[in-house]
Amino acid sequence: MSVWRVKPVSAFEADMKKNDLKRVLTKWGLTSLGIGAIIGGGIFTLTGIAAHDYAGPALALSFIIAGIGCLFASLCYAEFASVLPVEGSAYAYAYGTVGELFAWFIGWNLILEYMMGATTVAVAWSGYFVKFLHLCHVDFPIWLCNDLATATEKSLAAGLPAPGFAFNLPAFLITWIVTAILVKGIKEAASTNNIIVILKILVVLFVIFVGAFYINTDNWKPFIPEKVPVLGEHGEATGKFNFGFGGVLTAATIVFFAYIGFDAVSTQAGEAINPKKDVPFAIVASLIICTLLYILVSLVLTGMVKYDQLDKAAPVASAFSGIGINWAVFIITLAATAGLTSVMLVMMLGQTRIFLGMAKDGLLPKFFRTLHPKFKTPHKSTILVGAIISFVAALTPIEKVSEMCSMGTLLAFAMVCVAVMILRFKKPELERPYRTPAVYLVGTLGVAFNIFLMYFVRKDTWIAFLIWGAIGITVYFLYSKWNSNLQKADGEISED
Ligand code: ALA
Repeated sequence: MSVWRVKPVSAFEADMKKNDLKRVLTKWGLTSLGIGAIIGGGIFTLTGIAAHDYAGPALALSFIIAGIGCLFASLCYAEFASVLPVEGSAYAYAYGTVGELFAWFIGWNLILEYMMGATTVAVAWSGYFVKFLHLCHVDFPIWLCNDLATATEKSLAAGLPAPGFAFNLPAFLITWIVTAILVKGIKEAASTNNIIVILKILVVLFVIFVGAFYINTDNWKPFIPEKVPVLGEHGEATGKFNFGFGGVLTAATIVFFAYIGFDAVSTQAGEAINPKKDVPFAIVASLIICTLLYILVSLVLTGMVKYDQLDKAAPVASAFSGIGINWAVFIITLAATAGLTSVMLVMMLGQTRIFLGMAKDGLLPKFFRTLHPKFKTPHKSTILVGAIISFVAALTPIEKVSEMCSMGTLLAFAMVCVAVMILRFKKPELERPYRTPAVYLVGTLGVAFNIFLMYFVRKDTWIAFLIWGAIGITVYFLYSKWNSNLQKADGEISED
């Protein structure tokens, strides 16, 4: 059946030969790119919500659980990256192995990963930027730097009347700034980006080593707070609970977001000096380094401040204001603001490159592969992506977008684990510079772990996710299936 047709490995090799990007990235260069894409809104912002509402001091455990699921997926990604060092990431891998519909569906979920990921980071950026302005004695009105639900919650907590309208202006504006940089081309921004990555890692190390001196071990007790019932709008029982071990797992689905990005290394394959060896290395290395940093940061944060006192918008910086080191607050806030911008750049860039790959294969309209005559960037698709992100970021609470992002990514990771096993089975003879160890075990555990985490995502996110999936399948059968290059090559319809 044509939905299972696969793009031949030889076609990927031809694409790779056409690559006119400069090969400049070394093993550690790629690893630092990975770390740059990984460290962002997850650790700087979502740790606040995850610890405050769901896990308490057991946040470190949530990070370990989410990290294990990602490790399995990363080992599978690494094998694919060594066989098909091309830029489309999981979408391309699936197209070369399982088939077109499966690949389309991964691509469709990657939209959630990259687009909703960038949206989440835009909202996180706004939280830190507002905090930064506050340190400079400039205060934004609540309704102009939050979505309506969050603005209402914050206003009521501050004893103010609930606003009738709210718009997250900083999140909106930063998205357009990043869009403009991407339309012009990221090459100029690459060296600034490297500096930002170094700054971001230094700040994380600073938080760990300085924060460690301010840990009060009483704050870790009890390590897993007892579960408490969640009440509805009118104080009625909902049958749901926060905290307890279930809370630790829900927190794991939230902080899972913090790991997203290691797969972005695979989108840089075209610029790697030795992609078949170095991309797999960088994927796994960046993930392991960040896992260790995250576990330490979460222990330090929940040790410095009692979990129910953690700030939900800028928890890392606020933990330091709580202990009175105000210069540190200033530096952390500034570095987080810059660091989050670099994550947005990588995510929005990744999104437009995945669209580009899908459009080149004929699964999306030409619009997504039209390049700007002067800048040679896919400017139309970049502007469309920027427009969607800016409005969603301005109007939606961060946990809603981050959960959508995590859902899409969890499914994409599970699908990559399935695809790597299928490829081993179907084409055992392929040259694999990196082989996933115990692939059938690791792949199966990867699928199980990622699907298991999906189970703990909240119900309304599930509903939105299912609607998204249904739209994706519809678009495939109405448009992509008929316009795919492979379909045209079969001669089933003529070239337009
Ligand atoms: N892992 C990235 C972040 O936390 C997406 O911002």
